[in-house]
Amino acid sequence: MIFETHAHYDDEAFDPDRESLLEELQKGGIGRVVNIGASLKSCRSTLALMEKYPFVYGALGVHPSETAELSEEGILWLKEHCAHKKCVAVGEIGLDYHWPEPEKEVQKKWFIRQLELAKELNLPVVIHSREAAKDTVDIMKELNAGETGGIIHCFSYTKETAEIFLDMGFYFGIGGVVTFKNAKKLKEAVESIPLDRLVVETDSPYLAPEPNRGKRNNSLNLPYIIEEIAAIKKISPAEVEAATWENAKKIYKFV
Ligand code: NI
Repeated sequence: MIFETHAHYDDEAFDPDRESLLEELQKGGIGRVVNIGASLKSCRSTLALMEKYPFVYGALGVHPSETAELSEEGILWLKEHCAHKKCVAVGEIGLDYHWPEPEKEVQKKWFIRQLELAKELNLPVVIHSREAAKDTVDIMKELNAGETGGIIHCFSYTKETAEIFLDMGFYFGIGGVVTFKNAKKLKEAVESIPLDRLVVETDSPYLAPEPNRGKRNNSLNLPYIIEEIAAIKKISPAEVEAATWENAKKIYKFV
């Protein structure tokens, strides 16, 4: 079975057919899905999905691009709801310098605050880091983020940066980008990261892999990602599927 470690099924892109699609996923070999919160609103919808579908779990947190909405009240709300028995991580949290807003200091403040929250709750973190490798690494080292560990989602840096996260004990979320022809740097990173530190993700509805690039993504595309990882590592897709299932269970602490 395939473990989808990162999807956004609360997204409005799924409003027309969410229910039938989630049923299809289960029939299509997707054994577990972790739906990832990105704003307080999407954390609320994530909770609703966790309640409704036995195979859907959740991560609750505020994405760097949404941090302008955060306050200590928001952190308290997260703290309370992260206690849900199906909440498996704090996320997605991090830094995104691709867009100018919110300003870096705001993003950093709430990244730090949410890393502290994860520690307090003893939950792993799901990290979103884009064009912000140095600040992400500095903050995570400063806060000893390796204590809770977690997943570097949609890893997009070099294999040298991968080394740093590996040393901290982190796992790497590999998604559709690995199937793109021009993703040389990522393919190299996947080659160098040990199989026991890889998990698969779609980030649905975004980032559909080849041959569905550009379309709405969903977890039924995960086999394309698994096949590409298998080709890079010169092993069978079945081995990648089994290893990433076990890795995901381990990092999200499923017994
Ligand atoms: Ni995401």
